[in-house]
Amino acid sequence: MPKFKAEELKVEDQYKLMSGSIIPRPIALVSTLGPDGYNAAPFSFFNCIGVSPPMFMISCSPRDGLRGGKKKNNIKDTVANLRHCPEMVVHIVDYDLRNRMNVCAHDVDSSIDEIKEAGFTVQESEVVKPPRIAECRVQFESKLLDIHEMGKLPYYLILGEVVYFHISDLVINEELHIDPNSLDALGRLAGSGGYTRILDNFVMQRFHPPGSSPPEDIFEDAKAAAKLDRKLKL
Ligand SMILES: Cc1cc2nc3c(=O)[nH]c(=O)nc-3n(C[C@H](O)[C@H](O)[C@H](O)COP(=O)(O)O)c2cc1C
Repeated sequence: MPKFKAEELKVEDQYKLMSGSIIPRPIALVSTLGPDGYNAAPFSFFNCIGVSPPMFMISCSPRDGLRGGKKKNNIKDTVANLRHCPEMVVHIVDYDLRNRMNVCAHDVDSSIDEIKEAGFTVQESEVVKPPRIAECRVQFESKLLDIHEMGKLPYYLILGEVVYFHISDLVINEELHIDPNSLDALGRLAGSGGYTRILDNFVMQRFHPPGSSPPEDIFEDAKAAAKLDRKLKL
């Protein structure tokens, strides 16, 4: 098995190993408000942190990408806008919206409204200033908690709190379960054009909620299934 000491790798190679291994990544399409107007950009270094309150993280490279550096104005519009107005709307990108999302990924002048260029419909938010993108099936109106600068480039780790959920009735049921197939969220893989969709789901029994003890029969079933996998040399 090839092994690499991280600090001896070029940043491009570190990026290949991280973005190629941590897959699939969900994609947040983030609308923000800056002095020049609205902006939207996709980010796949994105995930849920926890609840109470509902919190998420997004990681943004410098505008120059892996060349990075703390040069003047070397931050993306999303970070600059969040410093101007600490609110955002995070949208989940589905397969049907992939091409419109892609338009928003272009590094254009901050005076250009990428939401409009992409052909998205802007909708007023309930409690934050940045707008919602009407076509997205999941829209999280959010407040900025913090921006941490991390690493040598640096990366800007954006921490946010969801304050208002908008979920299309196409994807949610009365018990607030979201149907992954109807959501059809796009997943990011590595490389310049790698994406995936959820086309194959399976269910595996979960032992027990955190803080409770595992029911004995479910634990025995899980161990038996793991033993079978080893026997089959999976
Ligand atoms: C699917 C996808 C995922 C992306 N993920 C990230 C990411 O996690 N972090 C990042 O800094 N840039 C990411 N980018 C690139 C940004 O979207 C791009 O730099 C964009 O121009 C930033 O826009 P802004 O300057 O309006 O903030 C991604 C692009 C695409 C298409």
